[in-house]
Amino acid sequence: MSKIIIANWKMNPQSPKEAEKLFSSVKKEAKNVKNTKIIVCPPFLFLHLFKKFKHKNISLGAQNVAKETEGSFTGEISSKMLSSMEVSHVIVGHGERRSMGETNEIINAKILNLLKFKIFPVLCVGEGNRDKEGFYLSFVADQVKDCLKGVTSSQVKNIIMAYEPLWAIGKDASREATKEEFMEMKIFIRKIISDLYGSKVAHNIPVLYGGSVNYLNAKSFIEEGADGLLIGRDSLNPQKFSAILNTLK
Ligand code: 13P
Repeated sequence: MSKIIIANWKMNPQSPKEAEKLFSSVKKEAKNVKNTKIIVCPPFLFLHLFKKFKHKNISLGAQNVAKETEGSFTGEISSKMLSSMEVSHVIVGHGERRSMGETNEIINAKILNLLKFKIFPVLCVGEGNRDKEGFYLSFVADQVKDCLKGVTSSQVKNIIMAYEPLWAIGKDASREATKEEFMEMKIFIRKIISDLYGSKVAHNIPVLYGGSVNYLNAKSFIEEGADGLLIGRDSLNPQKFSAILNTLK
């Protein structure tokens, strides 16, 4: 399986010019990577800039989508609109969106919509804190089960899972997860999917790690067994992003 590296630009950068510059640097770097698929997720507003600007190792992703298909939903963007921009992947259930009130039920509706339009959902799950009793495991199990409701076994093959513990995300992160914490979760997520869809299907679902990934820790997550990485801050800095890609060569 080739590795999946997702650049989640979040609400950055602030102008189309800067976005083009950043994308060009990724494009340059992408020429040298092997067995790696890079998915760049800019803000909606900049997607059109990159529709015709891609590279064989780069796909275009979005950071969110509406749960409805069309109609009077001020400020929303539909799966069909994203498909018309040649967006192939969409991040759903990101911790930062969950903290704005997005529930598993809403995320589930988004996933079902994306699948109808043949867009790959990148489903983020992760706990807010790790309690000693292990309740975080049932919390993540519920996220996986509730978000995949109604997804058929042929559709689930198109889902990418990302484990992003909330305590490891963004500039206020306390720390990144350890390789062992990630692997425990990868096995656990695969087990839940296996209970729902069978072990063969579960085995082929990529499970990525996200949360304070940088060039110092990227390789160790991949070596430990991550199928890819979901990168926030360090995807905004061409040198840092290129250093991450270089460690994976
Ligand atoms: P950071 O890499 O900035 O911690 O962000 C992780 C993330 O939220 C990616 O989706």
